Amino acid sequence: MQHIPVLHSEVITLLDPQEGEVLLDVTLGLGGHSALFLNKIGKSGKLYAIEADQENLNIAESNLNEFRDQIDLRCDNFCNIAQMNFPPADIVFADLGLSSPHLDDPQRGFSFREDAPLDMRFDRTNGIPASQLIAQLDEQGLAEIFWTYGELKSGRKIAKAIKASEKIRTTFELKECIEKAIGFHAKDMLPQVFQALRIAVNDEMGSLEILLREGPKLLKPGGRMGVISFHSLEDRMVKQVFKTLATPKIDPVTGAISKEAEFEVVTKKPVGPSDEEVVQNPRARSAKLRVLKVKS
Ligand SMILES: C[S@@+](CC[C@H](N)C(=O)[O-])C[C@H]1O[C@@H](n2cnc3c(N)ncnc32)[C@H](O)[C@@H]1O
Repeated sequence: MQHIPVLHSEVITLLDPQEGEVLLDVTLGLGGHSALFLNKIGKSGKLYAIEADQENLNIAESNLNEFRDQIDLRCDNFCNIAQMNFPPADIVFADLGLSSPHLDDPQRGFSFREDAPLDMRFDRTNGIPASQLIAQLDEQGLAEIFWTYGELKSGRKIAKAIKASEKIRTTFELKECIEKAIGFHAKDMLPQVFQALRIAVNDEMGSLEILLREGPKLLKPGGRMGVISFHSLEDRMVKQVFKTLATPKIDPVTGAISKEAEFEVVTKKPVGPSDEEVVQNPRARSAKLRVLKVKS
């Protein structure tokens, strides 16, 4: 049940946490990255963290017990970051998506390898489970989710099969429905179907958009913001927002710079895992880290 922090050495090298700094980890998970940060910021540093999943937060709290006097952990969605009264931070960090316990616990419904209620919510006290989302959407809406969040060419066919079947309540019912519709190649599509539903259920793109808008505003002069994403849609959004923030404003009439950019992009290209990390932790395979810095 251990979550291995992805890109751990790259995160520390590029975000460069210093003694006494204030940190905001918006995806606490089990506290893997937070522990690394806490070891760097020392006793005079402070770490604030957000986690949507109360069970993960409880585990993180116990994992970080030795740092209890300098941490402030909150169970919330990072889309609420602007309303949470955080002080200015030296580092804002996000490691997006789901954590290993989500996949390891069959009852959460994230994995097509285990039969379970089709839930997929990070925060089971909010929103609707995937089974309900499937029931509510029409064929067109479902196909759009499969195409946009899963880049599935057979999304329409799968959506049609789902809508034609009995109500889908479990992971295996969904899997069987896809297998019936697609045949032999279904197994290659299951990861994308499950990913697409998870992104929709948790409104992951909507939350990321808010985080990218509000997170940089919380940074102190010289502050850094790092985001690890796991699929191209997220990475594209991070890249675009960081680029815009690091671009000076141009006066449309004179063509001259009317306002210098406040930020610079530290990672010209996204930073991925080493071959060794991929061997040790196959989930790190698609991780991409981008870092933004407030110009000093
Ligand atoms: C990849 S894991 C983070 C792992 C963490 N960096 C560690 O080393 O243990 C992502 C975590 O973020 C949480 N999460 C995802 N989206 C969230 C959101 N919008 N608000 C708050 N937490 C979120 C998930 O529940 C999950 O525990």
